[in-house]
Amino acid sequence: MMRLIVCDNQQEIASLGADMIAEVVKANPKAVLGLATGSSPVPMYGELVRRYRAGELDFSTVRSVNLDEYYPLAPDNDQSYRYFMNHQLFDHINIDKSNTNVPDGLASDPVAACAAYEELIRNLGGIDIQVLGIGGNGHIGFNEPADALDPLTHLTDLTEDTIRANSRFFESEADVPRHALTMGIGSILSARRIMLIATGEAKAKAIATVLSGKLTTASPASMLNLHGDVTILCDRAAVSLCDEATIAALS
Ligand code: GLP
Repeated sequence: MMRLIVCDNQQEIASLGADMIAEVVKANPKAVLGLATGSSPVPMYGELVRRYRAGELDFSTVRSVNLDEYYPLAPDNDQSYRYFMNHQLFDHINIDKSNTNVPDGLASDPVAACAAYEELIRNLGGIDIQVLGIGGNGHIGFNEPADALDPLTHLTDLTEDTIRANSRFFESEADVPRHALTMGIGSILSARRIMLIATGEAKAKAIATVLSGKLTTASPASMLNLHGDVTILCDRAAVSLCDEATIAALS
């Protein structure tokens, strides 16, 4: 089932998202959080930090697995997703860093590293809740639009669209890695719950495709229609290409 919550502002999204994470962590202090990078979840991470500091949340036994990482890129590079997670969240809460996992952007054998990442997720008992952003082209993690999609964690080529979109964080477009390690669509769908955060007009087309309820490899996020428990937290702009009847039916 897909549930859509159209929010008035980023703070409302952050707060509802943090409520969902808090519910999972309170129900199971050893919960496995599937985490995402990109700007979309940043306000929610800020809210989780605030609640931790207020004594409302304890992450001491929580585990985490991140969706993806650029390849090749060192974890201490300030554009790596490991660096992002440390700075946006892990350094500010009481999570044990050894319980946090991000694909290894320097793996000498990326194929073996991807297989090991799948095994890690299995050994952790699976993901309790997976946080997702969405690319303007409908990518989730780094599962880019393609004729065929990979089910499991894999090494992938980034599309020109994504390289261009993400170049804003690098000194130049040439500095953006051309590859990434990413969970596959099946790894994502195996999470017990999924939360997708989308804001702004740039995501409107991708969200309209998801909400159409159809599946297409041209928009990997559409595969979320196969999952039984997806919550989309978004703003008005992100649903600006959806008709009111669709919005009302899913709200
Ligand atoms: C990146 C990440 C995705 C993210 C997406 C959107 O390429 N690999 O996980 O969801 O782009 O990013 P943003 O939230 O900054 O729009």
